[in-house]
Amino acid sequence: MFISREGFGKDFSWGVSTAAFQIEGATQKHGKGLSIWDDFTQKNNKIRNNHNANIACDYYHKYPEDIYHIKELSIPNYRFSISWARILPNGTGLINQQGIDYYKRVIDYCLELGIEPWITLYHWDLPLELEKKGGWSNRDIIHWFAEYAEVCVKHFGYAVKNWIVLNEPMVFTGAGYFLGVHAPGVKSLDKFMAAAHHASLCQSIGARIIKSYLPESKVGTTFSYSHLEPYRLFHEKDEAAAKRVDALLNRLFIEPLLGFGYPVKDLPFLSGIEKYIKSDDEKTLPFDMDFIGLQNYTREMVKHSSVIPLINAKIIKASKRNVTSFTQMDWEVFPRAIYLSLKRLHAYKKIKEIIVTENGAAFEDNIENGIINDEKRRKFLEDNIHEVYRAKKEGVNVKGYFIWTLTDNFEWAEGYHPRFGIIHIDFKTQKRTIKASGNWYAQFLKNEVHL
Ligand code: GAL
Repeated sequence: MFISREGFGKDFSWGVSTAAFQIEGATQKHGKGLSIWDDFTQKNNKIRNNHNANIACDYYHKYPEDIYHIKELSIPNYRFSISWARILPNGTGLINQQGIDYYKRVIDYCLELGIEPWITLYHWDLPLELEKKGGWSNRDIIHWFAEYAEVCVKHFGYAVKNWIVLNEPMVFTGAGYFLGVHAPGVKSLDKFMAAAHHASLCQSIGARIIKSYLPESKVGTTFSYSHLEPYRLFHEKDEAAAKRVDALLNRLFIEPLLGFGYPVKDLPFLSGIEKYIKSDDEKTLPFDMDFIGLQNYTREMVKHSSVIPLINAKIIKASKRNVTSFTQMDWEVFPRAIYLSLKRLHAYKKIKEIIVTENGAAFEDNIENGIINDEKRRKFLEDNIHEVYRAKKEGVNVKGYFIWTLTDNFEWAEGYHPRFGIIHIDFKTQKRTIKASGNWYAQFLKNEVHL
């Protein structure tokens, strides 16, 4: 097929995404408070190779260079997150003017270069002071978060028109409060249930606040979304297991937002959430977002398992299956997953518009004579964009695509091992090198290459 950028329409937002904690470093500079990730990464054996993000990509200082690269690559939209503790070091109360000024410089520089800024309010780095009070498991978070959202819109609303409330609530509540493999490292079913409900409330409360101050703005929130399949075909128990995992991973946060409540019927243990629901919460949970952010990387295969409690299911990683290609994250390369995920979200009639707010792949890169020919990543992006196009042509209202991510960065519990960037970073020297995938994206955006 011959597909050019133009085939997606003029109103299609092409972009690239980052997140504050993964790139900024300067974790204690200019009045910044600590976040749960600053704390978690100092603990032993939580992060692969005991890496931390104290310096990360040094983006706090190098943002002009990185944002200039966005311009060089002709990428018109840039999604980044605000570090809550950089602007409210204690989570609430005192505002750190140096933090506000920093993000204003970032925003103003984007605008100066003609790049449209998209702000994510929360990409996982909760102020540590709030975690000391229970973090997401404390219902007071709905007030703390409302205050934070208000500070952001009041200070950045002068220039920012596109807003994302939460990044992947399933991941930060599930990995953070139930599995304990992400910050804050809590392992409690009860705390997870509480955190999940409070995050659900915050996604709509945050959106309402943004809209009340900036009625013309475009507001959405993002969800991790994995296309799921039973491990064994026509195997009833695996099919039922996949349905349960789907309720947990794909439906838990989007359905209350759309007004359907929690998917308790298909996953009975979720009824534990009910004790955290107060009167009127059911009215607060739904919100008519301008768009839903879809973040898809792969498909997952689900197998029935009687030894895994509550869910009785497990995901069989790509390396344990007969898979020809998988990434450094052990995720199968399966571009059709993004098409299937888009179709599935489209089936929720209430969703107005979908934007792919993250999609990308981590592969090992080799520099040869200063050149990084990351063909696997380039092909991954090309094939995924192709699948997005296919969904669009079939009537899915998908209006944007953002690559994860601009530069190699700190990949949470995996440290610096996986490389997701379209720009390489040598973490010893902080030297940036644009990879072939980055140049290819630029050419595609300039209509110099087609799919
Ligand atoms: C997402 C997350 C990003 C990034 C990406 C790749 O879940 O929002 O921060 O880490 O996955 O793993």
